[in-house]
Amino acid sequence: MDQRKTPVLDAIAQYRRGGNYTFALPGHRLGLNVDDRTAAVLSRSTFEADVIMAKQSVSDAEELLAEAVGARQAIFTTCGSSISIHTAMLTVTGPGKKILVDRNVHKSVVASLILAGADPVWLRPRWDQQRQIAHPATAHDVEQALDHHPDVSAVLMITPTEYGTGADTHGIARICHARDTPLLVDEAWGAHFPFHPTLPTAAIHAGADLAVQSLHKADGGLCQASLILLGGDLVDPVDLRLRLDLITTTSPSALLYGSIDGFRHRMAAEGHQLLEEALQRTNKVRTRLTKIPQIDVMNESIIGHDGVAEWDPMKLSIDVSALGITGYQAKDWLQSQHHLTAQLGDARRVVFSLTYTDDTTALNRLTDAIEALAADPPTNDTPAPDIPELEQLNLEQAMNPRQAYFATTEQTSDPTGRISAEMISPYPPGVPAILPGERFNEPVVEYLRAGLAAGMTLPDAADPTLKTFRVVRQ
Ligand SMILES: Cc1ncc(COP(=O)(O)O)c(C=O)c1O
Repeated sequence: MDQRKTPVLDAIAQYRRGGNYTFALPGHRLGLNVDDRTAAVLSRSTFEADVIMAKQSVSDAEELLAEAVGARQAIFTTCGSSISIHTAMLTVTGPGKKILVDRNVHKSVVASLILAGADPVWLRPRWDQQRQIAHPATAHDVEQALDHHPDVSAVLMITPTEYGTGADTHGIARICHARDTPLLVDEAWGAHFPFHPTLPTAAIHAGADLAVQSLHKADGGLCQASLILLGGDLVDPVDLRLRLDLITTTSPSALLYGSIDGFRHRMAAEGHQLLEEALQRTNKVRTRLTKIPQIDVMNESIIGHDGVAEWDPMKLSIDVSALGITGYQAKDWLQSQHHLTAQLGDARRVVFSLTYTDDTTALNRLTDAIEALAADPPTNDTPAPDIPELEQLNLEQAMNPRQAYFATTEQTSDPTGRISAEMISPYPPGVPAILPGERFNEPVVEYLRAGLAAGMTLPDAADPTLKTFRVVRQ
């Protein structure tokens, strides 16, 4: 196929050139009636490009993308990886079926379990005692779990994590396929992985049957642009499209599709070079930051530690705890003092998601700011919450997530021992600390309350103050 083609971008441009006037949707009439205030902020050309897409252009663009990344098929979606994950999960599992799921998942996976009515068999992530973060489970962990639960309908892994540590997708795919079990990989951060060998192995190359990617996270797509990639022959592509049709919009955005088309076009033409240069710049940043004694910068030595099989060097993860501050505070300080936005702040770390767009000027600005932070850190404003041992946060799944979610509920200030009817997900990375059907224990309640006091963002708690929690009424 000719990767220089851009079917979606061409269709948008052609519609605009064609002298069309629409009496159909969208009612903004390609921006004709957009007021000056809206146009000043959003730009009139955004509306001019917001045309109804011809399906043919999208499927041509999907074929080009599938070829560019080595997938059997690609499906463009327009409501983030969340809808792609819902679609994939509704395809590989369903009511009453079991699915083996990495417990370190994003909340969209839990939402999918509720939608599908499936029974999760939790795969416990590897807990890194030293760093107090979770890494993906190993291939051996998956094999053992499948030995215990041979009737699972599929396996879902999340790799790499938001800290950049990745699973042995190759090994896990081999184990799944020996049992004809499809492997679904949430690779939300890795749409560029197929285009450079130094990056973690793209899930689709490692044997995943389905891989989900966000185009806006570490790549050039507009927010909500996402992909489902299909590999192998264990998942029916027709089922996949039917499930997407069930839950997605009937008016998908041409802007989002166009940004996916443009991303693929650019990556096919110059992705390797762009990423090569970005990796070189990133290495320089890491070398410079590693010289600062008071901070700890994650590097490739993480590979092999606690089952970490791959590592994404574009994730710059810095432990600032030796400065006597939390990552939450470091993130806020960088924002308020230097107008630099980090991807994530947690109890110990700030994480920056570097991309091929970040040039030397931007990276020097970041490095200077971190040097300034280390030289003169702010005084600690809130103590870091004690992070319990992972074992203490491994909660009992006492009820099916869907049943608990739709059960009669009540709010209680003392949830210990009760079954949760909500999910509460420290964000980012958005991994629920508790989810519907799990039984609250004391460490999780204390961890969440202390985390909130220390600056943790908990966008989905029923009671944002955490004075009470939503539980299944007894
Ligand atoms: C690992 C992972 N999966 C899925 C999602 C959902 O992606 P989106 O925001 O594109 O819906 C996120 C978002 O943070 C994520 O980090």
